[in-house]
Amino acid sequence: MILKIVSFIFLFTLVQGKKLNCNHENALVSFKRPTYDFSVRLLDRVSRDTRFHFVFSPLSTWLQLMSLAEGARGPTQTEIWQVTRYHRMKCFRRKFREILNSMDEELKFMTKRTNFIVIDKLLSVKESFKTEVNKTNTTKIISLNFNNREEAVAKINEAIDMDDIGGQFDSDDFNLTVLLMSDTASFKSDWWKPFNPVFTSTEKFYSEENVILGNVRMMNQEDYFNLTEVPFINARVLELPFNTNDRLCMLVFLPTGGTVVDLFYKLKNIRLSTIFNLFKVKGTKFVKVEMPRFKITSELQNIPELIYDMGVKRMFYPELADFGGISDYPVYASIMTQIADIEVTEQEARASVVPAPIIRRPKHSIPFTANRPFAFLIVDRFTESILFGGMYSHPSI
Ligand SMILES: *[C@@H]1O[C@H](CO)[C@@H](O)[C@H](O)[C@H]1NC(C)=O
Ligand SMILES: *[C@@H]1O[C@H](CO)[C@@H](O)[C@H](O)[C@H]1NC(C)=O
Ligand SMILES: *[C@@H]1O[C@H](CO)[C@@H](O)[C@H](O)[C@H]1NC(C)=O
Ligand SMILES: *[C@@H]1O[C@H](CO)[C@@H](O)[C@H](O)[C@H]1NC(C)=O
Repeated sequence: MILKIVSFIFLFTLVQGKKLNCNHENALVSFKRPTYDFSVRLLDRVSRDTRFHFVFSPLSTWLQLMSLAEGARGPTQTEIWQVTRYHRMKCFRRKFREILNSMDEELKFMTKRTNFIVIDKLLSVKESFKTEVNKTNTTKIISLNFNNREEAVAKINEAIDMDDIGGQFDSDDFNLTVLLMSDTASFKSDWWKPFNPVFTSTEKFYSEENVILGNVRMMNQEDYFNLTEVPFINARVLELPFNTNDRLCMLVFLPTGGTVVDLFYKLKNIRLSTIFNLFKVKGTKFVKVEMPRFKITSELQNIPELIYDMGVKRMFYPELADFGGISDYPVYASIMTQIADIEVTEQEARASVVPAPIIRRPKHSIPFTANRPFAFLIVDRFTESILFGGMYSHPSI
């Protein structure tokens, strides 16, 4: 009898020990769900704030909060933990960063990110915090003299260094500010199956009430794609792979019957693997894809408001914020902005006026016509993370 119990306990400890083994695989498993949940919740809020026309990188905000949490203490830290469901073991957090960084490394020819925390020089930021953030290899800490506003602004705008993106700080942003976080991200890539520009034509774009909103340059092609209906979110989802070793793709969501307005809200009910499993089960289909060329640049300045709504509150109050890990002086967060940019084209790199060789095609193709508001996600299949999400609902040529 006794022996049995002992062996049971022994086994239990073994399992526990195995569970806590800090390796890439376990780190990935323990972060997939939290990053996904956080991403779709934030995208839902951003979509309402931008009148359903935007591009945003929720993962960047999540990573910024993780960096801040390293310097937060007490209830300020607990709030960030609760919202990001950030892993309490440092080793797991590092491993997960490594996974994301290796993804960045692999994809750097198509994504560009700059991420920094700017702190007033007078606050004497703790070395331990600088070291911890530096270990992430992604977020830069810049100490500046905020009393000299003009110079601080010039330095920050230089650090953003995004040629195509015109987002600039203003010296008014520095009134009373001691900590500022900024993040810029842009994405440009070739499709795995490019559209032929010869077939691109000007078409009408409709509202969800079938009212003509304007014109778009509609790209189109017929080929085999993953396409499935996803019941829990009332949408059809099309996968457009990018030209990158099977990792990155754009998922395009067209509501069936319902509206695009609550699409990100409904995504809470599923996971990305739900969609990929449906693709697997249904197999690829011969689809006639029609989608507008588009370019969206979004500058979101009210991230504090959005994450405040999600439950991260204390860090914005001078009298409540506890960033004892950053500085002994009272520090609170005031500005978090993100500028994101996406451009979707037929694929200039391979644009060709010669029609593609005729492939053997079935008589009927299934139409997937994005001529009304749609949502999109750019996802990494391997980590199941959402790099960018957005919506398109205001047509332009
Ligand atoms: C940061 O870079 C160093 C050296 O390049 C590497 O050893 C380390 O694992 C990286 N850390 C992360 C979190 O990616
Ligand atoms: C941060 O890391 C970079 C290399 O990635 C190094 O050049 C720099 O000195 C480090 N800064 C601090 C404060 O450790
Ligand atoms: C910032 O401060 C300057 C003067 O110090 C003032 O003119 C300006 O109105 C302030 N801006 C804001 C947004 O408070
Ligand atoms: C379709 O989805 C399956 C399962 O997720 C995947 O293995 C396959 O590469 C995808 N094919 C295309 C053409 O996107």
